[in-house]
Amino acid sequence: MWVCARAPSSSANLGPGYDVLALAHDAYFDVVCVRPSEETRVVKVTGEWKVPLERNSALAAAEEALKRLGGKGVEIWVHKGVPPGRGLGSSGASAAAAVKAVELLLGKSLSPEEAVMSAAEGERLVSGAAHADNVAASYLGGLVAVTYDPFKVLKFEVAEVELYVVTPWHEVPEGKTGAARSVLPEEVKLRDAVKMVGGAAAVIKALTSGDEDLLAKAIEMDPVVTPARSKLIPCFEEVVKAAKGGGAKGVTISGAGPSLLLVGGGAEEAKAAWERCGVKATYKKVKPARGSSAV
Ligand code: HSE
Repeated sequence: MWVCARAPSSSANLGPGYDVLALAHDAYFDVVCVRPSEETRVVKVTGEWKVPLERNSALAAAEEALKRLGGKGVEIWVHKGVPPGRGLGSSGASAAAAVKAVELLLGKSLSPEEAVMSAAEGERLVSGAAHADNVAASYLGGLVAVTYDPFKVLKFEVAEVELYVVTPWHEVPEGKTGAARSVLPEEVKLRDAVKMVGGAAAVIKALTSGDEDLLAKAIEMDPVVTPARSKLIPCFEEVVKAAKGGGAKGVTISGAGPSLLLVGGGAEEAKAAWERCGVKATYKKVKPARGSSAV
């Protein structure tokens, strides 16, 4: 019998919080089901989106959770609701749901840190780096911050703010997140680091208190990651300008992109700007989501 868990999409980074901050949201959900088996493997992928059976984040996440919980093996069924390659935490959602499903099957729980570390193995398999921001948000829900050395996961309750994700649907290469990481500089200037740390603190304050104006400013306090990645996103400048003209108070890239996260409005105008430059786009108004749970 299959045991299933679902996990939400998420927007990582939130501007200045590269690999640290992420917000789980209700734009999309993945469902992952597991059942006991001799060998751990993904046996089927259903749902709206195609993802590989072998290089699948749910596989590495389930293997790591089984190792930590002392389980044998599982067959995995991934029902894909979160679109891959759009900066919406798709691999993270599968990984977080896989860890939760393994916990439910075995009737045992991992600590939040162990669960998130297990799910981050899924990210390592898919993007080459065990970044834990998306998986922490998908697993725990709400707003999260991650520290890596030592590894800690911090969760914050969030207040209501007006947020949109706008997604362009142009072709993106396989392994897009890895490519979007490879354009980033290896080193940053101290003054840029200072700006990002201040910005990340402001994002937390803004989201926990519902201060939309502060959030709009804070998500743009990133002189490093967003400028480097903006070049990978078609018509970035025009779309941001249109969003702001349409009422967005602040705009940043969602995760590794190409989706954008907008504060306060402007989604329809952003979508129209992408379509003027020949890229089909859609948008969703999003609310913070709960973390992974049994289905
Ligand atoms: N923090 C990661 C990155 C998120 O920006 O590469 C990827 O979804």
